[in-house]
Amino acid sequence: MSATRGLQIYVGLVGAVALSLLAGFLRADLPLVVPPQNVVLLVAGIGLMMAAGYCPICVGPKVAVSMAGTVIFALLLLLPPSLAAIGTAAGIGVLYTLMRWPTLYVFFNIVQSIITVLAASAALRLSGAPPALTQFGPREIMAAGAAAGAFFLVNSVIVTQFAVLHGETSFLAHWRQFFGRSAVPYLSTLLVGLVVAVTIVHAPIVAPILVLPTVAIYRSLRDATVLRRQTRETVEFLADTVDRRDHYTYEHSHRVAALAKKITARLGLPEEEQEAVAQAARVHDLGKLGIRDELLLKPERLAPHELEEIRKHSVIGAEIVGKLPQYARGKEYILFHHERYDGSGAFRLYGTHIPIGARIIAVADAFDAMTSDRPYRSALSVEDALAEMTKGGGTQFDPVVAQALVAIVREETAQAPSQATARPAAVSTQPTLS
Ligand SMILES: [Fe+2]
Repeated sequence: MSATRGLQIYVGLVGAVALSLLAGFLRADLPLVVPPQNVVLLVAGIGLMMAAGYCPICVGPKVAVSMAGTVIFALLLLLPPSLAAIGTAAGIGVLYTLMRWPTLYVFFNIVQSIITVLAASAALRLSGAPPALTQFGPREIMAAGAAAGAFFLVNSVIVTQFAVLHGETSFLAHWRQFFGRSAVPYLSTLLVGLVVAVTIVHAPIVAPILVLPTVAIYRSLRDATVLRRQTRETVEFLADTVDRRDHYTYEHSHRVAALAKKITARLGLPEEEQEAVAQAARVHDLGKLGIRDELLLKPERLAPHELEEIRKHSVIGAEIVGKLPQYARGKEYILFHHERYDGSGAFRLYGTHIPIGARIIAVADAFDAMTSDRPYRSALSVEDALAEMTKGGGTQFDPVVAQALVAIVREETAQAPSQATARPAAVSTQPTLS
């Protein structure tokens, strides 16, 4: 069965469960009398849900949460379950349609949101709180906590299974990356929903005033996210400028980062670590900004004292990125990316005392340097470079990391054999500094 077919069947099943549950809850909620204040609540809720859905906040690489959950959670506490589910489905449906999401995704998000809201409402009721709360005592607050847990659990499981069928990694890996790591901010948005609901019930006059501090906090969080992204882009731009100073190293950092990412995945490192290594690899030679052009662009082979001077780029690079919190881990990877596995490098670190990110960047860096032309030698063929990597395992390189690279390159060249012979034969196999 193809992934697309499996995905369609899954969405169909989720849709069938959602509609059956909705029908059951609707029957229980009948006669569904909707007083004017609930109409206002519903309309305002749908509007706010859409506004919040448009502006998600990134809480980590590829992980974002939005305040839409706040609105949905407040609605499910205050309205009969079926009405809250229908209102949520309407808001989600209009939002994703306006955002031009594919029909299957829009439909999936409508039906999964119905199940999530109804499951949370069921947890509320099972915990001893009546539907459509009109007062908040200790029992209701505890029940709301159980509802928030059910909301998070059901939503994360349904969405993760969708991602798995979409072809994205394993269930546990995806759940950990997209929900496990964002559990605290996610549950916090639901907690804010509880505060909103309590305010609407016990001090309705204050409720509209809550919008102001919420928007202010929201904006500062978004500004911080944008600032982090812009800082990273600026650092990467500077690293590209270094690569461009010498046409022999053009796009070197891009290739090293891509290769380092593949190695981290091959070694099964956690997604967060993979990102940190790739991010550091992307700017690993940034410190060459502080190295003289005469050295960096010297067409002849470098003398030992010149090599020594150029090696300071790892210290300079680590100092530059060390001031930025998003490179807290990457700083060490950059600092030690020229360490040797046998301990004969500048810092005398050896084996696994060298951070894993630095060992990976060292391997990716050396392979890219070997298979690229330099002013004083031609590029090695891929086969010769792989032989050099294997030979250097245990002395210059971490043998496990070197073997991971060899396996990746062999697999890729087997898929595209023409690339394996595209490089000219080597004229030198001396270690290079890139
Ligand atoms: Fe370097």
